[in-house]
Amino acid sequence: MSAETASTSMIDPVISTAGLTMDYGRVVALHELSLEIGGGVTGLVGANGAGKSTLIKILLGLQEPSAGSARVLGHDVATASDEIRRVVGYMPEHDCLPPDVNASEFVVHLARMSGLPAAAARERAADILRLVGLDEERYRLLGGYSTGMKQRAKLAQALVHDPSLVFLDEPTNGLDPASRLEMLTLVRRIGTDFGIPVLVTSHLLGELEKISDYVVILDGGHLLRSSATSQFLDATGALLVEVLGGDVERDQLGNALAEAGLTCRPRGAMVTIDPAPDGLDVHRLVRDTVADLGLALVRVQADQGHLEDVFTEGAHHV
Ligand SMILES: Nc1ncnc2c1ncn2[C@@H]1O[C@H](COP(=O)(O)OP(=O)(O)O)[C@@H](O)[C@H]1O
Ligand SMILES: [Mg+2]
Repeated sequence: MSAETASTSMIDPVISTAGLTMDYGRVVALHELSLEIGGGVTGLVGANGAGKSTLIKILLGLQEPSAGSARVLGHDVATASDEIRRVVGYMPEHDCLPPDVNASEFVVHLARMSGLPAAAARERAADILRLVGLDEERYRLLGGYSTGMKQRAKLAQALVHDPSLVFLDEPTNGLDPASRLEMLTLVRRIGTDFGIPVLVTSHLLGELEKISDYVVILDGGHLLRSSATSQFLDATGALLVEVLGGDVERDQLGNALAEAGLTCRPRGAMVTIDPAPDGLDVHRLVRDTVADLGLALVRVQADQGHLEDVFTEGAHHV
């Protein structure tokens, strides 16, 4: 064994798949997916229908793949699904809550089912409900919960048995921006404060880049990209420029910069400029162009890049 394989095999991946394929007949939801996922928070990103939920169900052993294999925390999904479900917490995409019990009863019940004695189960349930922010509503029936409260209750049931890994399928679905941010912050805390590896899905690329250490992008069942978030966010060498005014001023600047030989395009209120050939002082060119046009510069900053860009750029290469 070479030194390199010895060192990489020291840390077993939390999840690994090899040639994983899910053929539903009319649609192939996963195409020979081979990937490895480690600790921390991993964002699983893709448009609706990309195969995210299918992958999670296979990893839980709830669904049998057409071909290929997968291991979760060292367990083979084909032979050890009971063990996997014992150690993995799962927040499903769709509503899974009984409407006619309150959150406290529900979570205490699940804690008992996972083997805790009554007193410990009550304590554990109280802790978890406090963590997800359902302290005050815990005695209300789940059927009367808002979408945001339901998502929190679904998260609580995924955490109650003290899992070694959690799968969160679209936890921000249906949430308003404020609740969305709170949910994302909670997901991040599960990964950092509690040290539990998290696999979290979203069809919104922008929101996962903020909380994920690692990002896996699926596109129509194909693995588009799998890498550390820091690699996505490494400065792309591109610049973002904003001038005072509206679209007219922005386009005026964009056109002038394009005439000066730069590749640029609008993004929101700003103009992004692609990395220029060596030797060209882009900052200076921007300043001069802005001055020549009589515009007022608001800011020039390095474009960190966003997953949206990676996704749209990557998609053209597939
Ligand atoms: N049980 C099923 N039978 C047939 N097709 C399915 C089934 N479940 C999912 N699909 C299809 O597989 C593809 C991937 O679905 P899914 O894994 O739910 O994607 P995502 O979670 O990324 O939105 C979609 O085209 C979907 O219609
Ligand atoms: Mg889904």
